[in-house]
This record gives sequence, C-alpha cells and structure tokens, in this order.
Amino acid sequence: MAEKVTIIIDGQKISATAGEMLLRAALDNGIYIPHLCAGGEETGHPPASCRLCFVEVEGRPAPVPACTLPVTEGLVIQTRSERVDGLVAAGFELLMSNHRLDCKNCPANGSCELQRIAKARKLRLKPKNLPVLDKNLPVDDSVPGIIYDPNKCVLCGRCVRACRRSGSGVLGFTRRGYQRVVTTFGDSTLAESGCTGCKECARACPVGALSQTD
Ligand code: FES
Repeated sequence: MAEKVTIIIDGQKISATAGEMLLRAALDNGIYIPHLCAGGEETGHPPASCRLCFVEVEGRPAPVPACTLPVTEGLVIQTRSERVDGLVAAGFELLMSNHRLDCKNCPANGSCELQRIAKARKLRLKPKNLPVLDKNLPVDDSVPGIIYDPNKCVLCGRCVRACRRSGSGVLGFTRRGYQRVVTTFGDSTLAESGCTGCKECARACPVGALSQTD
C-alpha cells in the first residue's frame, strides 16, 4: 500500500501519498494552484512548461513548480507570496499575449482554465504590458465534431499527449517563438493527417483551442 505522509499547504494539514506531485495533492484536497500543462486526470511527470504552478517551499531559496515536486513527509508549502504571484502574473501575461481573446464566442467560455486562473489570481485576461502577437493561422474544422483554432493554443501539450495515448499520435509541436503551435505532421489538416476523430484532444484542451461540436 502507498505510504501516506502529512504536509502543510497554506497552514492546512493535508494527508497525501508519498511521491505524488504536490500539484495533484493540492488539487485533490481542494486547494487550487494555477496550472495548464499538467493535465487533469494525467499522472506521471508533466513537461513543466507553462510555469504557472509555482509555490514557496519552506527551506528552499526560490519558488518551485508544484507539478514536479514530489510530496515528502513534513513539506511546508505556501501557494501565495510576492515572488510566486509575480512569477504567475508574468507567465500568464506572456501566455495571453499570444492567445486570441474572444471569450464571448469561444466554446470554452465559462470552463476555460485561463479564465479560472485570471479569476483566482485577479489577473487581466488582456495583456497590460505586452503587445498581442496573433498567430493568424486558419481554423481547422476538417474533422466532424472537432474544431481546432491554433490561435488559441497555449502550448500546454495536453492534446499531444492525449492524441498519443489514443493511438493516433498525429499531433505535435512545430515552429519557434510566438509562432510555435500544435499541428499535424506536414501542417496538413486534421482530416488529412490520419486523425480518427476520437476527440480525446478536445477533451484534454484546457482552453478553447480544440473543442467538440457534438
Ligand atoms: Fe506546472 Fe505547468 S502545471 S509548469
């Protein structure tokens, strides 16, 4: 049986499984930590690429990502501090500077993880300091039941991993800088790529980039 340990998050005693990631332990106990690249039901080691899940760990000199911090007995965590809030705000603004903001017409409106983070940390969805760099890429509705708007992609990689798990494996990352995006091999449409239409990608997407129409 998995060993149980006791940790403290924001002054609250939590029982967690030794070795599980702190982000998972916090979420399972109703403590919200912003996150995008670590997927909901996914287990294992996330890519730690979104840099939104920073927390303070007692005894450590700098904030660390909660999604890659294994839980050990006696861990003392603060989910908020000036440093953490600053890192999350900066990372979030960077993401939003490359995200086409159209909440009113977005299928994820109301369930979007970006909206949730903005609300939890009192952040603006619209960047204040950075210019918005729109990718200006075509929307792909070539597979029935799936719409892919790459202009809303936040590069969390959850769809790529879901697509691999489903067995299709047609999604991957391409390009660099603000043009980096999830696409298919050779930049073909989903229909041309060998996509089976399972919609696992849309279910995994935490924003409105990949959505289901049925
Ligand atoms: Fe930890 Fe993305 S959820 S870095």
